[in-house]
Amino acid sequence: MSWNFEELSKAVKEESKKIKDVQEAESFRVKYLGRKGLIAQMYVSLGSVSQEEKPLVGKNINALKNKIMALIEEKHDELKLKVEQETKEEIDVTLPGAATEVGHKHLLTQTIDEICDIFERLGFTVQEGPEIETEFNNFTALNIPIDHPSRDGFDTFYLNKKDPDEEDTHLLLRSHTSPGQIRIMKKYEPPLAVIIPGKVYRPDAVDASHSFMFHQIEGLLVDKDVKFSDLKGILTFFCKRLFGESIEMRFRPHFFPFTEPSAEVDIFWKEGKKDWLEIMGCGMVHPNVFEAAGYPKGKYVGLAFGLGVERIAMLKYGIRDIRIFYENDNRFLNQF
Ligand code: PHE
Repeated sequence: MSWNFEELSKAVKEESKKIKDVQEAESFRVKYLGRKGLIAQMYVSLGSVSQEEKPLVGKNINALKNKIMALIEEKHDELKLKVEQETKEEIDVTLPGAATEVGHKHLLTQTIDEICDIFERLGFTVQEGPEIETEFNNFTALNIPIDHPSRDGFDTFYLNKKDPDEEDTHLLLRSHTSPGQIRIMKKYEPPLAVIIPGKVYRPDAVDASHSFMFHQIEGLLVDKDVKFSDLKGILTFFCKRLFGESIEMRFRPHFFPFTEPSAEVDIFWKEGKKDWLEIMGCGMVHPNVFEAAGYPKGKYVGLAFGLGVERIAMLKYGIRDIRIFYENDNRFLNQF
């Protein structure tokens, strides 16, 4: 048995430095502190040491044992830290965070909301009608004669399904929001003021300014004393709200079968060679329309108007091609 404690202590320390993992640390512990380990053997050998030397040797064995225990503990801490560092995810607080993308309303919905808001402020209520309509509501009740070109299959999408309420007519995709007028009048007694936004369908060849589906907003106000000046006042207020106080506008005489007199509203908008741009149709509700809706003859007067949402959004935001609204391209949509 070597009692050279100084040398032993150095050797043990050197050996402990080479420990790489928990298993090696355990073998190290067994080798020195185990039941048959070096320290145990030393205590056994202590019996053969002389009486004078015994206390000192014993003290040295204890010191060596403590040193080995300290070395093991140190090693365990070191290994634990190493494992922690290896498995810990590094957090760099200076990195930009992963933001969740928040969606927003489509530009057309925003435009519809904005337009509806203006009319709601004037006391109008928003109502909606179905996209599948009857020939009666879409044409007949609106005083559109049977031979009118818009009734042609080239201008309206007819469905195969027949109208269950009217003989020999087919259901169709509404070609404008005006049938909403009929539905409202059949359901409510005046006074009434409604706006009806929604999709409309026409079999147009698709190009930069035409689509087989687009959006309109219909307006209808019926009461006992409604004048053309009310129509002008409401639509002038609307245009100024939407395009700004300084917008110039004009009412240009026009024809619609369901209003009399009728007009188109133009706003002054310089674009290419054109300067006046049509934005909507309007007029005083034709007596035949009231009659078709079931109102007593001569009891009411009303005003109506209809505008194209895409057209207005294109003007307001300088959009040149209608098709871009429907492509769901975020590079476009995220700009609004
Ligand atoms: N429905 C007409 C169109 O689609 C617009 C309009 C509505 C005109 C109401 C007058 C009154 O062109």
